[in-house]
Parts: sequence; C-alpha cells; structure tokens
Amino acid sequence: MNSSASSVDATNSVPSTSTAFSTESYFQSQKPPPNLEDKCSRIQAFVDRWFNVSTKRVVLVTSGGTTVPLESNTVRFLDNFSAGTRGATSAEYFLSQGYAVIFLHRIHSLRPFSRHYSHSLNPFLDLLSIVSSQSASSDSNRDQIIVSPEHATRLLPVLRAYNAAQDAGSLLQIDFQTINDYLWLLKRVSGIMAPLGRRGMFYLAAAVSDFFLPEDKMAEHKIQSGHGTLSLEMDQVPKVLRPLVQEWTPEGYIVSFKLETDPELLIPKARAALSRYGHQLVIGNELHRRKYEVVFVERADYGNGVSSASTTTTPRKGAGDSRLKGVETPPVLNADVASKQLGEIYRETWLRLDDLVPGDQDGMDEVEIEELIVRELVARHARWLEASKKTP
Ligand code: PMT
Repeated sequence: MNSSASSVDATNSVPSTSTAFSTESYFQSQKPPPNLEDKCSRIQAFVDRWFNVSTKRVVLVTSGGTTVPLESNTVRFLDNFSAGTRGATSAEYFLSQGYAVIFLHRIHSLRPFSRHYSHSLNPFLDLLSIVSSQSASSDSNRDQIIVSPEHATRLLPVLRAYNAAQDAGSLLQIDFQTINDYLWLLKRVSGIMAPLGRRGMFYLAAAVSDFFLPEDKMAEHKIQSGHGTLSLEMDQVPKVLRPLVQEWTPEGYIVSFKLETDPELLIPKARAALSRYGHQLVIGNELHRRKYEVVFVERADYGNGVSSASTTTTPRKGAGDSRLKGVETPPVLNADVASKQLGEIYRETWLRLDDLVPGDQDGMDEVEIEELIVRELVARHARWLEASKKTP
C-alpha cells in the first residue's frame, strides 16, 4: 500500500474511509496520466485544423470500457463491459456523413475500419488467398497474396472509406485504459473542443466505471493471496456529465448512453439523467437488444433539434430510410421519478431493426443500427445548429 493508506489487513481487505469525490476534488487529488500532454497536443492540432473549416462539424466518440486498477503496478483490474462495437461502428458512419471524428477509445477495443477484420470476428488471414504462378524467366514459383474475391467485395468500400479518412485527415484516434485516463482526457478534450461551439458533438458511448480506488488507497504491488478473502471498498467516481454540460463545453451537442439490463428501468433512468445533467439527448439501450433497438429520450420542450413534425403520435419511417422503423411514443408527462420531480415532458423515439425480414434479398439483414442512429443524430444536430442561428 502507499504510505498514506491503511495497509491490507489479515483478510486482505482494504479498509478505508469512503470519500465522496466531487469533480473538482477528483482532479485535485488524482494525478493526470503521464502521456496526457502529448495526446492533448495532437487533439489540439486536429481541432485547430477543422476549426478553420467553418462548415465542418466535429464529433468526439468515446468507446469501450474503462478499467479500475487494483494495484499501482497493475496485475489485476476491474473492467466495464464493452467491446467497442457501438463506438467504432458509429465513428465510421460519422465520417461518411462528413464529420471530423476524434475517436477516444479503450486500448485494444474495436476501432473504425479495422473492426472489419478483427482477430475474433474476421481473422485477417481468413480473408486472404495464395495465388501461385510460374515465372518464365526464373523457372521459379512466384506466390502472391490476394484478398479472396468473396471478401474483396465487402472490403472494397471499407478500404475506400479508410483511404478517404486518411487522405482528409478527418479521423484522430486516441486511446485510454483506466478510468483516470478517461476522465482526464474527457475533461481536456471537451475544453479543446469548446471553441467549436455548437459545431461540436459529444457521443459518449464508452462504458464508464462508477467506482474506483483512489491513488492513496491503492496497493503499490501485486496484492498477495494466501490471506483468505479479499474485500475492497471503492469510492464513487464523480459523474462528469454535469461539468461537461455546464462548464467544460456548454455549447456542445451532448449525447450520452444509458445501458440497463432491466428494460423497465431504461426510460426512467434515461429521463433521470436528462433532468440531472441538462444535456440534449440520452440514447437508451438494453444489454441484449442493443444491436437491434435503441431509444432516443429527450425533453420535449428543449431546443434539441427535433422538428415539430416528429412530435406526432403517428409511427413514421426514420431518417428517410424505409428499412428503419422509427416509432415515436406520445410525449409522456409525470410518468416516473424524473418527470414527477421536475414536471417535464419527455419524448421517446425507438429505432428498431426488428422489422427487417431475416435473410432479405437486398441484404437488409446486414444493416447496422449505428447507421440509423448516426443519420438521425446528424439530422438533429443540423436542426439544432440551424435553430441557434434563428435565436437572437
Ligand atoms: O461497445 P459495445 O459492446 O457495442 O457496447 C456498447 C454500450 C452498451 C457499452 C454502449 O451503447 C453504452 O450504453 N454505453 C454507456 C454505458 C454506461 O456507462 O452507462 P452509465 O449509466 O454508467 O453512464 C451513463 C452516461 O454517464 C455515459 O454516457 C457516461 O459517459 C456518463 N458517465 C458515467 C460515469 C461517470 N462517472 N461519469 C459520466 O459522465
């Protein structure tokens, strides 16, 4: 243990007086990660470049789970569930919609473009074939590696989009591992993006730890076994959405995600987050259905880019795409804890892939829900920007 902390007791427990960290006390007491300045310089250069292109919108996509180390010389850590699929896939669609993307991701989680040949889903070597041909001059076999034709069709648009992003310099990838890395980076990136004003969007898909071990309570070396059970008391991570919205980047268009395993909690918790933090939109997803449906939850009276047409109770097709069923429920008043507290009116809009016919001949079964999410967000962001121009 660090000298200032209580030592590990006979049963390996880590006794502590639990501290309620405010955002301010968190950043005063927890050291920034060593490579923070280097990463921030790259982010600053990226934002500066796109700041000067007045029509360019910039999105920060956070992706993957944060870890909570149990030791300074880390052998063990707690992890949050997330493969990085939501973030990596969404980043590609934001790029295709003309955004510059800062992709803030958990190291080794899925990334835009390379996700199409990840070691687990599509092993790289499985995409390749060897073509042998006899060389007339040397009489030797000349083996060549090619992408197998059945995979080439699928990879060609991926390669084109990747090259386009590389050529334009519109994708910046920055990694994090621990909750501390993530919080410091989020704070600094949002400050760097603040001058973009309403052109900046925050798409917070990372799965962020709710509990952590502060530096002064963390074991320095590997916690030894042989002392029976291990008990840990962790401190609560301050919710950084509030300062993000109110201080760090007050003009950004901020979209947070809410993950629940109990479908009954999804909408009430999403509404509670909206009324607590005051941002534009919460996208709710239930763990097992997250690839097929999400719900957009927002305050109905907020200048959040929702057109008046979408307040109707009539089911409508979403984002002009006949493959998407976007069903809007009527505004609901005082139906749960959040609305009872503030008497606010909320609107929920479901985006669902369920209506696609399995094995559809148009390949519609391969539609990714992130395409629909991003298209809808881009439209809302545009309306929200437009609305601000009309406001004196
Ligand atoms: O990557 P995949 O496998 O595709 O999975 C995607 C996903 C399910 C992880 C993703 O869609 C998702 O739901 N991400 C958010 C999960 C989450 O952390 O929920 P939360 O209730 O703990 O946090 C809600 C919001 O508060 C988040 O946007 C987070 O950025 C924010 N937060 C969380 C903790 C904290 N201390 N401060 C925060 O601001």
